[in-house]
Amino acid sequence: MGFEGFDAYASEYDSWFIENSNVLESEVRLVASCLKNAGDVLSIGCGSGLFEKILADKYGIYIRKGIEPAAAMAEIARKRGMEVVVGTGENAEYGIGEYDTVLFNGCPCYMQNLGVALRKAYDALRPGGRVVVIDVPKESAYGLIYNLALAVGTWEHPLLEGCAPLMPYPIEFVKQANWRTTAEKIAAIEDAGFANLTFAQTLTTAPHYSHEEPEEPCEGFRKGSYVAITAYKPK
Ligand SMILES: C[S@@+](CC[C@H](N)C(=O)[O-])C[C@H]1O[C@@H](n2cnc3c(N)ncnc32)[C@H](O)[C@@H]1O
Repeated sequence: MGFEGFDAYASEYDSWFIENSNVLESEVRLVASCLKNAGDVLSIGCGSGLFEKILADKYGIYIRKGIEPAAAMAEIARKRGMEVVVGTGENAEYGIGEYDTVLFNGCPCYMQNLGVALRKAYDALRPGGRVVVIDVPKESAYGLIYNLALAVGTWEHPLLEGCAPLMPYPIEFVKQANWRTTAEKIAAIEDAGFANLTFAQTLTTAPHYSHEEPEEPCEGFRKGSYVAITAYKPK
């Protein structure tokens, strides 16, 4: 688990998403749907700022600041115009009462201690602010197939033939991840003091077909392979 792979393979990460444009589009639509009237946004694990750039260009949603541990990814995000501090979600300073939204998009599975980061997010938010936690649930179709690839150590395995995503997530990134169930994330979010949880999801087809067309997000968490949990700091 960690971010070292993202330092070594920063450009591969963007290339994979750009080739996988329908998957990227489905995920961006989900993120955008959770960031309506989001106010001042802090993005944890912002990576190369790829999502943030699309959110700004296509949706007029601007991220005030990012925190990202992989210096090579942070550098790409800066070139895209973001202000980024290099640090992990667990160790970085978020500030106190400075934001209306803290976003964790696709990074919880790389974090050693999500609870610590969520407590920092709570402190960084103004009363009534929201945390948005988005990731692949361990129990989802993608979560299961990623863990199968992890167990066999490659996408080139007979068990994955004919069922893997057409352009699978680079195995270097799979090997560093620890996907959590939605139930585990809910427990961590509630333990940090957040309330009024809502859920939205995308990538609801079998992974082998998710590249075919972009999807609109829908409510809930039981069928999607990319799930957003939004929760609020009480006023
Ligand atoms: C799948 S990428 C997501 C990047 C970006 N949010 C996006 O959606 O394109 C995961 C990111 O989490 C970062 N990461 C790894 N460990 C982390 C940690 N402990 N705290 C915060 N981010 C971390 C990685 O460096 C990487 O940029």
